[in-house]
Amino acid sequence: MTATATLKIWRGSSRQHGEWQIHEVPFEPGQSVLDGLRWLRANKDPTLAIRFSCINANACKECMIQVDGETVYACTARLEPRDMTLAPLPNKRLIRDLVTEIAPPSERFSPP
Ligand code: FES
Repeated sequence: MTATATLKIWRGSSRQHGEWQIHEVPFEPGQSVLDGLRWLRANKDPTLAIRFSCINANACKECMIQVDGETVYACTARLEPRDMTLAPLPNKRLIRDLVTEIAPPSERFSPP
């Protein structure tokens, strides 16, 4: 039998109008939460919004989310074969699903 991680993920573009969705993803030791989210996008739901650049170097800082109420980098947080709750950062503007506005205003692109 294949081990699975059960991910409860916030979906929606606002904190008032959205829903929690539950997905099972395959688990292998050593995987990150981001690995699980990327598997989910590739195999079950390509509409899931997540953000990352470096994938596992903990360098870009773009994958910050909350896992079970703790702020983590999804690329270094370990996936575990249990129920895990994945939420957008609570103190940042929500863009969609797990993506929040994390760049400081001076670094955001603004069209001329
Ligand atoms: S993907 Fe770059 S720090 Fe996580």
